[in-house]
Amino acid sequence: MTSPSRYLLTAALPYANGPVHIGHLAGCYLPADIYARYLRAKKLDVKFVCGSDEHGVPITIRAMKENITPQQVVDKFHAIIKESFAEMGISFDIYSRTSNPVHHKTASDFFLNLYEKGLFEEKETEQYYDEEKQTFLADRYITGTCPVCGNPNAFGDQCEKCGSSLSPEQLINPHSTLSDAVPIKKKTKHWYFPLQNYEEFLRKWILEDHKEWKNNVYGQCKSWLDKGLQPRAMTRDSNWGIPVPLPDADGKVLYVWFDAPIGYISATKELMDNWKDYWYSEDTKLVHFIGKDNIVFHCIIFPAMLKAHGDFVLPDNVPANEFLNIEGQKVSTSRNWAVWVDEYLKDFPDQQDVLRYVLCANAPETKDNDFTWKDFQDRNNSELVSIFGNFVNRTFVLMHKLCKGKVPSLHVDILDGADNKMVGEFAQTKIKIESLLEQYKFRDALYEVIDLARKGNKYMQDKQPWIVAKQTGNDGELTTEAQNQVDNCLHICLQLCANLAIFVNPFLPFTAQKMIHMMKVVDKILDWENGGKLKLLSTGYSLRPPELLFRKIEDAEVEAQIEKLNKGLAEASGAQPKSAKIAQASKNTDLKEMKENKPQVPNLKPNIVFDDFAKIDLKVGAIISAEKVEKADKLLKLEIDLGFEKRIILSGIAQHFSPEEIIGKQVVVVANLAPRKMRGIESNGMILMAEDSEGKLYFVQPESVIGNGSGVS
Ligand code: 2FM
Ligand code: ZN
Repeated sequence: MTSPSRYLLTAALPYANGPVHIGHLAGCYLPADIYARYLRAKKLDVKFVCGSDEHGVPITIRAMKENITPQQVVDKFHAIIKESFAEMGISFDIYSRTSNPVHHKTASDFFLNLYEKGLFEEKETEQYYDEEKQTFLADRYITGTCPVCGNPNAFGDQCEKCGSSLSPEQLINPHSTLSDAVPIKKKTKHWYFPLQNYEEFLRKWILEDHKEWKNNVYGQCKSWLDKGLQPRAMTRDSNWGIPVPLPDADGKVLYVWFDAPIGYISATKELMDNWKDYWYSEDTKLVHFIGKDNIVFHCIIFPAMLKAHGDFVLPDNVPANEFLNIEGQKVSTSRNWAVWVDEYLKDFPDQQDVLRYVLCANAPETKDNDFTWKDFQDRNNSELVSIFGNFVNRTFVLMHKLCKGKVPSLHVDILDGADNKMVGEFAQTKIKIESLLEQYKFRDALYEVIDLARKGNKYMQDKQPWIVAKQTGNDGELTTEAQNQVDNCLHICLQLCANLAIFVNPFLPFTAQKMIHMMKVVDKILDWENGGKLKLLSTGYSLRPPELLFRKIEDAEVEAQIEKLNKGLAEASGAQPKSAKIAQASKNTDLKEMKENKPQVPNLKPNIVFDDFAKIDLKVGAIISAEKVEKADKLLKLEIDLGFEKRIILSGIAQHFSPEEIIGKQVVVVANLAPRKMRGIESNGMILMAEDSEGKLYFVQPESVIGNGSGVS
């Protein structure tokens, strides 16, 4: 879309069955907020909506566990989540909730609209039923032993310990979580939405018209479409949710994934009377920010529902992020392996921007990423404190010392190449940030901001105004020429501070506010159109003394956090916590212990003799180019530099890595594998990959970079 008239941004409605953790922030709320703040700074018409998802099985399970009502659960967590977002500076225009009457009405009307068009298929099927409690059981209500890892508390849809997707039939010793009874199968009627009828539309709309979507999103959609779409039940047997608005539907509610995305519409309705201007107009740019587990719902099911309804605009983009792991392990709420935002805010008061910074700089934009407290500390201390904070602080300290606390004049006649180069960077950085944000590349955009501060530090270091300020004449006074040079350097550095405030504002809004306070200017200076300009602060204007933008994070603080993580994990599993240091040192052992329930001995292949192994010629090479192979979902065509030659190797890793993320990596190649043709391309060798128990692939690599062509034995 070239120039939309308005923007409507949505962020996935979090389930109100627990607080939000930092994986949620990194997955969608932070990128959505950065984008919203950027668009607002550009003075564009933007609405950013979200709210709590208060229906569905997770809520009822929590209520059951705590022996309270689902309404009590959602009331409690809606308040906690809403406050966490507000404190983190997530600037929703509205944070609503799906238990609101306006949402119940909107979702019911939507359902009736499709029903009256005769779009639903009514079907009777057999589903699990708890005879003792006289209720149908959603897959989540059935637990049993995981057939993959032996976890005795796996759910009927997924094992949270090993991550395997399951169906209730696969569980060993299944039982109902409500009564412990063994569930039986019973007939029930539901309303199915014929997704298969929208396949052609979705294929064209996504695969042809939205080739620009992120690889992870596009790839997942393609794989869903290639598998073929099936009718999907849009109702459930439950007493918690939006009642199915039909006469013969007692005990049935709308499927939570039918009602939740309609929550975006209800929230907009609640926000403003002219909500239709946003939802009913082709020139609205609708962008859904979500995590990767929500892709199918936002790219396939909801758009098909919107299309079937007919009145609504479709999303222009769905820039889903992957997952953020914590200290090398998947986030698990049941194992309490998570960093909760409400707790972070208590442990690190006034340090919202540090978390925003680390989560954006390390965002799982193209693949799952890892959050570690050590990285949190390092990024804070060596990037925010030492680069950004240091530059701003030095500029203000020197300006007060050498320029009487006022913005010094700019003496254009003596500007040199270094000055002009520095000033030129303002506008160039602005262009780069804009282009990256418009492609949803938030990490790279943030990097540009820090890089500009880094350039500022270098410029000041090269100019050394504190030395120039010692150049006195015969009279013992500072020479005019020297003062003019000092003025120029500090004038440019101060204007750079103003530019940095504008550029950093979407990412670190609390920091931007501190900066404009120090500069004694009004919010308006942060308008995006001011970025790139040299004359933001007027000559002679007096500024406040510096205040520290960031403080150092001490070892003890991060050790306490690691201790807390381990304590939470131990409490969740009933074991004793370990000290932070031991835990850090034994991270891998922990991982092993976690999998202890799993059958330990893999099926090994029959023994070979050394001579068999010696026939394999393994060499180190570097990937110098990578591209997808047409009509082959799994294959990447790699060009490998083996030092002595370059060759083409096809590798079945396309669903795990994007081409751009692997270029430059060193790999180990089976160099004497007989050539093989696939999809008309000859592959000359094979690269070695390691695969963990969850099917995630890792490159087998030398420990540090070594010469291409080196042997492996
Ligand atoms: O995955 C989740 O947390 C869901 N509650 C997201 C819903 S997004 C939208 F559809 F509301
Ligand atoms: Zn398992």
